[in-house]
Amino acid sequence: MAEKTKNVSSQKSSDEEKPKENIRCLTTLGHFGFDCFPCQLVSRSLQRGFSFNILCVGETGIGKTTLINTLFNTNIKDSKSSHFHPTVGLKVKTYELQESNVHLKLTVVKTVGFGDQINKEASYLPVVEYIDAQFEAYLQEELKIKRSFFEFHDSRIHVCLYFISPTGHSLKSLDLLTMKSIDSKVNIIPLIAKADTISKSDLQKFKSRIMNELNSNGIQLYQFSADDETAAQANTSTNGLLPFAVVGSMEEVKVGKRMVRGRHYPWGVLQVENENHCDFIKLRDLLLCTNMEDLKEKTHTYHYECYRYHKLKTMGFTDVGPDNKPVSFQETYEFKRQEFQEQCQQEEEELKQKFMQRVKEKETAFKDAEKELQEKFEHLKKVQQEEIMKLEEEKSKLEEEILSFYKMKAASETPHSQETNIRRDRDRKK
Ligand code: GTP
Ligand code: MG
Repeated sequence: MAEKTKNVSSQKSSDEEKPKENIRCLTTLGHFGFDCFPCQLVSRSLQRGFSFNILCVGETGIGKTTLINTLFNTNIKDSKSSHFHPTVGLKVKTYELQESNVHLKLTVVKTVGFGDQINKEASYLPVVEYIDAQFEAYLQEELKIKRSFFEFHDSRIHVCLYFISPTGHSLKSLDLLTMKSIDSKVNIIPLIAKADTISKSDLQKFKSRIMNELNSNGIQLYQFSADDETAAQANTSTNGLLPFAVVGSMEEVKVGKRMVRGRHYPWGVLQVENENHCDFIKLRDLLLCTNMEDLKEKTHTYHYECYRYHKLKTMGFTDVGPDNKPVSFQETYEFKRQEFQEQCQQEEEELKQKFMQRVKEKETAFKDAEKELQEKFEHLKKVQQEEIMKLEEEKSKLEEEILSFYKMKAASETPHSQETNIRRDRDRKK
């Protein structure tokens, strides 16, 4: 730095000597301007990598694993689930994928045992709880004093692929119940699974029946956005294609000279990536090429925001006070603390009152018992005194009797009686 300054000053002095000839021209190294901003975002995103979280809800064996493998061109082996799970569970797996120089952290959450129980009333609950738990984890990270969003794995669900059984009839009540309970928490994209098992004409009728049922039950689906000019046209036509009729396959089948992903049947080959055969290409393009960022953004700005709003509201936080004036977080905290202290004081007062009341009750009970005992004591004392008096009377009677006895005895010991006694002795000797 010091050297640079030196060069400038030496140059300045020489410039003063030869004003025009030696002007240093700076050559631009490349293009610069604010139209380069997007390039910064691209390189930063490439450095950090991308993350995407998918929730697959569908019955056992409906083709969840196969479709994920087909979508991401992977060969993830997944053990088949049994049909005898007592409750619905969720299997969560995270994969680090790479395509060219793009890294993707893909989290796939799949239902296990969905629709296998006799009582399906609570089958949707684990799904709802899982989605909420991910929102809660993010909210907790957000509320921390020392936040570390770079290391934090944001596991909020960006899209829910809802697999509908290809019955050709209508939606099951479990489907309606589950979709209704998660439609405000996640972007739902309904799929008709194993669409190769329904004929083309049946498929159209099935699709419109499903959409009618969803609309009449007020179930909100993810709407492919028409705001973005580039994707507006494709997105609007795609909304009309819902639910997507998809086919998955891990097989490579030879069609002409090409190897394609497809399913080989006795009557021919179903090509997964052929738009005339199924809607897989539409789903993949919209999910991965055009709408991934929109799905993530909607998750953050709409679904998570909803969760956060309700959670903070139940905790007592609010943006405006009763007088409609803005209330800061600090003010709400202080207000809540004061409210809590007042409540504590009130409870303490109530406890004191209760305690005093009980003490009084006990005191009166003790006094009553004492009085009763006193009365009993007085009564016993009285009885005892009466007994003593009786005994005294008897004693004096006995003493009188003893006295009279002695008198009689003394009288019997007179001379006449002595004579009689001598005569008696004589008679006895004879
Ligand atoms: P679990 O994880 O055990 O619940 O099953 P899953 O939903 O992951 O289903 P999986 O992908 O394992 O597929 C089950 C069976 O359905 C396999 O034999 C697949 O070959 C077959 N399968 C998958 N997708 C399709 C499809 O689009 N059409 C047809 N006809 N069969 C399919
Ligand atoms: Mg599976």
